[in-house]
Amino acid sequence: MFYLTTAIDYTNGAPHIGHAYEKVLADVIARYRRLRGDEVYFLTGVDQHGQKVQQTAEKEGVHPATFANRNTKLFLNLWKKLGLDYDGWAATTDERHVTCVQRILTRLKERGELYKKAYRGHYSVRQEQFLTDKDRGADGEFGPEWGEVVEIEEENWYFRLSDHAEWLRRWVTSTEDCVVPDFRRRELIGALDRAGEADLCISRPKERLRWGIELPFDPDYVTYVWFDALINYISFAGYPGNDSDAADDSLPDFKSLWPADAHIIGKDILVPAHGIYWPCMLHAMGFTDEEMPTLLVHGWWNIRGEKMSKSLGNVVDPDALADRFGPDALRYYLVRDITTGKDADFDAERLVMLYNQELANELGNLCNRALNMTARFCGSTVTTGAEPDAEDQALRDSCASSVEAYREAMDRYDIAAALRAISGHVTACNAYAERNKPWELSKDPAGKERLQAVLAHLVESVAHAAVLISPVLPEPAARLARQLRLDDLLERKLDELAWGLVPDGHATGKPKPVFPRIVVDVVEEAAGTDAD
Ligand code: MSP
Repeated sequence: MFYLTTAIDYTNGAPHIGHAYEKVLADVIARYRRLRGDEVYFLTGVDQHGQKVQQTAEKEGVHPATFANRNTKLFLNLWKKLGLDYDGWAATTDERHVTCVQRILTRLKERGELYKKAYRGHYSVRQEQFLTDKDRGADGEFGPEWGEVVEIEEENWYFRLSDHAEWLRRWVTSTEDCVVPDFRRRELIGALDRAGEADLCISRPKERLRWGIELPFDPDYVTYVWFDALINYISFAGYPGNDSDAADDSLPDFKSLWPADAHIIGKDILVPAHGIYWPCMLHAMGFTDEEMPTLLVHGWWNIRGEKMSKSLGNVVDPDALADRFGPDALRYYLVRDITTGKDADFDAERLVMLYNQELANELGNLCNRALNMTARFCGSTVTTGAEPDAEDQALRDSCASSVEAYREAMDRYDIAAALRAISGHVTACNAYAERNKPWELSKDPAGKERLQAVLAHLVESVAHAAVLISPVLPEPAARLARQLRLDDLLERKLDELAWGLVPDGHATGKPKPVFPRIVVDVVEEAAGTDAD
């Protein structure tokens, strides 16, 4: 089983383009693994607890639960609009998750991994958080952004993170693929020097935070939001498993899912949350090295080199983009114009350009002309018998090598390179059509056999492209398959892709535009940012 998860999104606001990217990336990988023949479990969800949600809810004068549920709906609606096909929904207020977190806390306490101690330090009343020396300005003082800063003493529960620091260092340095891409693993190794310095505070007194999971052994406290949120990856995977009395039939079988093959997260939450806290938490629970998950770390979408943020007013709204350009154009762009692991600049003009160029002009055009000419010149019948000439053979080779390049790129999560591999072959097909001119061959009865061969090559290539593009664009791929009248085309696995998907004598359907061109003058308006 290929078990794939994403970060769970904070519900203190509406989804933005970064959230949409991560979830589309995960959906594409899940669909690709299915195409590879794997059984897949894809988990995504929302992070509903914590101070940010409580604070924003209070500002709006509503209960945090009402507020979190309202925002959760925005995420659910967007995922529906973008055609995400996930198997599990991790919402951290779910009773099953709450129960699991509390069991884990109890267990860790029994194992001596948790202790209570008093901490004295500087506390920002406005930001409701303890400050460290890193928060001081150049003058050594806490700046005005912190508001009133007071010295307080507070008792809290701590997790013995530092006891696991040595193990973590050994594991991360000796396990090549524990973080992908490798430069992010090196980044994590660099950050490990400080991992053993302090233990992790995992509680918040209810006086300052009520919106969280209560500590089962100390009801005056709730669980720190990260400690709660990270556990979603196992709580919604059925942990602790079927052989314990805590088994829950509504959850998957933990043994068959764990360890996760890919936790898909952004670069900002690698250190310390996923790269330090999470493996140490698992280690403390008794998970072995072989039972550690793999992290797939993606980069960020920025706006003209700058971070997207509400205060800069440059947050891009994926919902509006999907409405304006269609979910297919948005899905395509989000995985086509970024290299997994690196950052990219979001640019609505490029979204339109890439869609129009690679989908409308190239793939859409190829499908349209192949089916149109097969209908007009060959009575909608594909005839495949002829021996391939050198040019046909070159096209078949191009098709086979595009499948190989696609597989190689997808296996290392480089979706953009995989899409370029498809486009490369589609462009070769359109050039082949231009050179062989089936529209002229059709005028001469002596050209009939050649005409049939050329069109058969084009139709066959469309069938290949439909399968290959299906993880990124499932709906358009299904439309291509329907027009080809190949009902079970998309049930094929990647290994079954070989020349000859379209049998001799096959009757194709009528072409209808699968990728209608986007008209450019709407770009400016739709790229509008949500400046709140
Ligand atoms: N709730 C935590 C994650 C808990 S996981 C146990 C969180 N939430 S978040 O809403 O702030 O971010 C959710 C995901 O979106 C993270 O993986 C984050 O890296 C990603 N992104 C946030 N902004 C992004 C971009 N501008 N671009 C790409 N991804 C970005 O962190």
